[in-house]
Amino acid sequence: MKACVIGGAGYIGSTVVYELINAGHEVVIIDNLSTGNRRNIHKDARFYFGDITDENIMNQIFTTECKEKSFDVVMHFAAKLIAPESLEKPLEYYKNNVEGVRIMLEVMVKHHIKNIVFSSTAAVYGEVSGDGICTEEDNTKPINPYGETKLVSENMIKWVCRRYDMHYCIFRYFNVGGAHESLEIGLDKENITALIPRIIESVLKIKDNFTIFGTDYDTLDGTCIRDYIHVTDLATAHILGAEYIINNKQSLLCNLGSNHGYSVQDVVNKASKIKPFKYNYGPKREGDPSKVIASNIKAKELLGWKPKYDLDDMLKSDYEFRKQLKK
Ligand SMILES: NC(=O)c1ccc[n+]([C@@H]2O[C@H](COP(=O)([O-])OP(=O)(O)OC[C@H]3O[C@@H](n4cnc5c(N)ncnc54)[C@H](O)[C@@H]3O)[C@@H](O)[C@H]2O)c1
Repeated sequence: MKACVIGGAGYIGSTVVYELINAGHEVVIIDNLSTGNRRNIHKDARFYFGDITDENIMNQIFTTECKEKSFDVVMHFAAKLIAPESLEKPLEYYKNNVEGVRIMLEVMVKHHIKNIVFSSTAAVYGEVSGDGICTEEDNTKPINPYGETKLVSENMIKWVCRRYDMHYCIFRYFNVGGAHESLEIGLDKENITALIPRIIESVLKIKDNFTIFGTDYDTLDGTCIRDYIHVTDLATAHILGAEYIINNKQSLLCNLGSNHGYSVQDVVNKASKIKPFKYNYGPKREGDPSKVIASNIKAKELLGWKPKYDLDDMLKSDYEFRKQLKK
C-alpha cells in the first residue's frame, strides 16, 4: 500500500514508518519537526517538511503525491501530547490537534482518499474508577485539553467518514515504551515525562534520581498501576488496522494495550535488574488514578493482533537505545 504518515518523524510515527517499509510498503512522511527529529526519518521514505494546519501546503503535497498513484491510507500522529502543557496552552492544543485533523480530512476528501488511521489515547477515558480496566464502550470524559482534543478529533473523523463513505481505524494507546529493534529510532526528546525512559535516564545517570509519586494508592504495593505497550507492537497493529479497513471497507475503534497492569514499583524493580539505581518516594500527584489497564480483546479479535513484547523488552530496548544516544 501507499501510506501518508503525518508526524512520521516522531517517536511512534517513525516506528510505524520503519515497519511499513520493512513490510514492503511505500511511505510518504509529512512532519513540521516541532517535536520530531530528522534523524528518525527512514531513508527510503519521501519526506515533506510541512505543517498539517497549513491547508495550502497539505494540498500541494497531496496533489503532487496523488498524481500517479493515490494514497491508500493516511496515518495521523501529528499531535501535541503533554497533558499538563495542554492545561497551560489549551488554544495551541486545539489548533494543532483539532484544526490539524480538520484540514487533513478536508484534503483527504478533496483528493478522494478513503482510509484514515488515527492515534488516539487512553486520556479520552478521563478518570478511571473500579477495577481500572478500560473497554472501548466505557464513558469518555477527558480531564484535560489534550484528551479532549483527541476525543473531538475521533468524533470529527467518525462524522466525516460517515458522510463521505470513508473508513477509519482509531487506536487508543495506553503507555507506550521501548525502542525499535534496529536501535536507530526510539524516544529521543528533551524533558521526557514518560515513565520507562525517565527510569532509564536514572539508571544511566543522565538525569537525577527517579521519584515514585504516591505510595498509598489502593493497590498491592501502594504505587499506581498502568498498562504498557511496546512501540513495535503498536506499529504492527497500525499495519493490520490499515489492511483491515482497506480490505473490509469497515471502520473500527480499539484500545491498544497489553491487558496487564504493572505498578510503578514493579517497573522500578524490573529496571533495577538491568542495573541497580537510586530512586526516591514523593507525594501523590493530583489527577493520577490508581489503576489504568486496557482491555485489548477487541484488537485481538478483529485484527488477530497480539503484543509480542513485554515490559522487560521495553525496558531493555529503551536502555540500549539511550545508552548509545549518550555516547
Ligand atoms: N507516546 C505515547 O505514550 C502516546 C500515548 C497515547 C497516544 N499517543 C499519540 O500518538 C501520537 C504520536 O505520539 P508520539 O509519542 O510519537 O509523539 P511525537 O511528539 O514523538 O510525534 C509527533 C510528531 O508529529 C509532528 N507534528 C506535531 N504537530 C505537527 C503539525 N502541526 N504538523 C506536522 N507535524 C506535526 C512532530 O514534529 C512529531 O514528529 C500522538 O497523536 C499522541 O497523541 C502517544
